[in-house]
Amino acid sequence: MCGIVGYVGKKTAQDVLVGGLRRLEYRGYDSAGIATLDDNNEAHIARSVGKIAELANVLDGAPQTGHLGIGHTRWATHGGVTETNAHPHHVKNIYMVHNGIIENYKELKAELSDKGYEFASDTDTEVLAALIDSNYTDGVTLKDAVAKALKRVRGTYGIAVFSPKEPGTLIVARLGSPLIIGLGQGETIIASDASALLGYTREAIYLNDGELAVCNKDGAEVFTLGLKHLDSKPETIEGDLAQIQKGGYDYFLLKEIMEQATTLHNTLSGRIDPKAGKMHLGGPNLTEKEMRDIRHVVIVGCGTAYYAGLLASYYMEQLVPDLTTEVVIASEYRYRSFHLPKNSVALIVSQSGETADTLACLREIKKRGVKTLGIVNVVGSTIAREVDGGTYVHAGPEISVASTKAFTAQVVAMLMFAGMLSEYHGGDPKLVAEFTRELSILPEEIEKNLETHRATMEALAKKYSKYDHALYLGRDTAFPISLEGALKLKEISYIHSEGYASGELKHGPIALVDDRFFEVFNILDNWLFDKSCGGLHEVRARGGKTIVLTDSKADIEADDIVRIESPIKHLAPILLNTLQQLFAYYIAVDRGNDVDQPRNLAKSVTVE
Ligand code: M6R
Repeated sequence: MCGIVGYVGKKTAQDVLVGGLRRLEYRGYDSAGIATLDDNNEAHIARSVGKIAELANVLDGAPQTGHLGIGHTRWATHGGVTETNAHPHHVKNIYMVHNGIIENYKELKAELSDKGYEFASDTDTEVLAALIDSNYTDGVTLKDAVAKALKRVRGTYGIAVFSPKEPGTLIVARLGSPLIIGLGQGETIIASDASALLGYTREAIYLNDGELAVCNKDGAEVFTLGLKHLDSKPETIEGDLAQIQKGGYDYFLLKEIMEQATTLHNTLSGRIDPKAGKMHLGGPNLTEKEMRDIRHVVIVGCGTAYYAGLLASYYMEQLVPDLTTEVVIASEYRYRSFHLPKNSVALIVSQSGETADTLACLREIKKRGVKTLGIVNVVGSTIAREVDGGTYVHAGPEISVASTKAFTAQVVAMLMFAGMLSEYHGGDPKLVAEFTRELSILPEEIEKNLETHRATMEALAKKYSKYDHALYLGRDTAFPISLEGALKLKEISYIHSEGYASGELKHGPIALVDDRFFEVFNILDNWLFDKSCGGLHEVRARGGKTIVLTDSKADIEADDIVRIESPIKHLAPILLNTLQQLFAYYIAVDRGNDVDQPRNLAKSVTVE
């Protein structure tokens, strides 16, 4: 995700900023920029699309000499990947970088346009810069103007701001997006990630949500947004660079599993209204008539994206009464002589937005004149650019090859599409409201669930890591997550594992049960509970080693049972899936595998 660096001190700011941005490269980004203030109080901006090396080239041609500045790596959320949308943004007296999402930027933009502000970019950040500027009137300090503006903001932010009117001062603030103030000798370095501070200082103030700080070369003073002075104590930054980039986790995979609550907040941000019991996705670009006319949805993806589509299709059928859904594997579909009925819409699901087979399907579908909507994570990726509309899932950069947080975000994004469609198709508003309520608490439930069961999944992994084979079984919405659980296990542990609908056991796979296998049953506390337990009994009767993951409180016999406790019902498969992610992770660690880069696999499969 986006990264922020800021500097005020004696050194040439450009060098510190570019060096800091390089440290943040691992987070993934699509464009970068810096702004500095020179000794004559003139500000200079340089921005570029692509890697920091591109920015460095630009700066080689026009070096900046000032000793104060801000820098940013952007992972696009609002607006495409262009130099104009890259940060820093500049509005009159304000220079600013921003991480996060300003949810009410449209209404603020309208208000500021009425006051005469003009906007060059499509970003929410530029709107916030204008809002700060509109408060930065004569006699008002930059600190006061920032505080006043932030009180009007709905959403999340980590910001760094300077103005030529107050040289030597950097203002930073945070809400839901990290900001750390490094305190050096005669210099202050700020960053969204401690890795950018290492080498300069290990003494730092970690800003809390709802706090703002005034920084200069001698240190920082911290305030509430109500401008109450706070006595913030510096802490010591622990760990080395590699550890810090992984957020203190041993592997990106674990970090990505554990951060799902946070990333899901971004997926949901501004898109659900639990009070009204409604969901809304802005991106599909479909008129009311088009929404009403949809009769058939085809969901296209590969691997985890395909399984996310499969789970979403169950939800879609529940929520949208007159809709037919079809979920297809992109590598197959692209070569089939498929016919799509009139009034079809295709959802093209891809984390990277670059998967060759998925992209080929998108093009085939477009040839048939069918509307395509992207469910994509990487902003500005090829699929995102070629679809007719769609939505970004905002899961942030997924670095580990095994997809985890993207799965959760993809399911949720498609579910929100279904919730919205439901309204136009005479769906049950009560059911939409139930799903909406569950979505609103899902991030916290995921967090609680992961914390509660992390040690258990680690212990279970140790117990089962020496097996050669595994079967993952589930019915209804537990079926897609069983497929996904088996995929996660095989790709990082190299244990042969297969996912099946548990009703299929008797049709073949039960012949496999022997002491080289263990079986994972995902059992939901729903109307098919007894039938789901049926498969479990059949396997146990043949001496199979069984693990049950369930949200049921009922008596179940198995070798190992992990029960989640949550008010969530419809979305329980998403919770169970996070346990499977931990299980696969710990097995891979126990087997000594390269967890983040499993053999033979690539993160983005851009070839057929
Ligand atoms: O980037 P995409 O979502 O299009 O990638 C699709 C699959 O390659 C991907 O999900 C793959 O299956 C992962 N390694 C699964 O963890």
